[in-house]
Amino acid sequence: MQNDLFSTAWEILNIPVPQEKVEQTYLAVNRFSNIKPDLNLAATDLPVQKLPVPGRPDKPKLVQPRELPRRKINSLEGRATLLHAICHIEFNAINLAWDAVYRFRDMPVQYYLDWMKIAKEEAEHFSLINDYLNELGFAYGDFAAHNGLWEMAVETDHDVLVRMALVPRVLEARGLDVTPGIMKKFENVGDTRANEVLSIIQREEIGHVEIGSYWFRYCCEQRDIEHDKTFRDLLKQYLNSGIKKPVNYDARLKAGFTQQELDYLENNM
Ligand SMILES: [Fe+2]
Ligand SMILES: [Fe+2]
Repeated sequence: MQNDLFSTAWEILNIPVPQEKVEQTYLAVNRFSNIKPDLNLAATDLPVQKLPVPGRPDKPKLVQPRELPRRKINSLEGRATLLHAICHIEFNAINLAWDAVYRFRDMPVQYYLDWMKIAKEEAEHFSLINDYLNELGFAYGDFAAHNGLWEMAVETDHDVLVRMALVPRVLEARGLDVTPGIMKKFENVGDTRANEVLSIIQREEIGHVEIGSYWFRYCCEQRDIEHDKTFRDLLKQYLNSGIKKPVNYDARLKAGFTQQELDYLENNM
């Protein structure tokens, strides 16, 4: 492992083997979790590089969203297909968290601590789902997946404000919206283990979106711009199809969305 945080983040981003990425994440978070608040991290001379493709295994095969496998939940393969889709999201989320650490260099130390906490929790989410998939006789890589999460990372790699608005507050917040419906499906087929795991994930994801809300607002204040309007403008600029229903009001309020933002999502998207 490298000696400084940004080189370590870059190294972990580029690890292709999921298990190794998870283990290195735990080690790195442990090691850097006591960085001093007055440390000038921006003083690093490590250049910021583009990352069109992060370290990932050869499989899953990446396809267009419309080519994704769809199977009924009431078969073993159907449950595994849905769990696999979530597993893929969690794998990407590990990379997204390390990319948020690596790329944006002049944030307060607490920002890096927050994103390392997220990296660790995403590694745990990935492992929980992957272990359960294995128990069911499947593995990460068995089904096709899509690359929407990383595409958004690349589109927002130029500005931490845009990244905080669109990754935690759109993509991760989307998880908050859809997870109750997914849990209902697992409940209907009596899969209690899947729902034990999903309720842990849902609880911690509220925290991730909340961290995103906090740093999004911090960036808006730094630039003296109004956050509700800025968020609306970014949604218009980056999401041509808008935010899909349902919107989980409860979870989003806990995660730092304002009532105005939620009203806007309800009436205009
Ligand atoms: Fe997660
Ligand atoms: Fe997350």
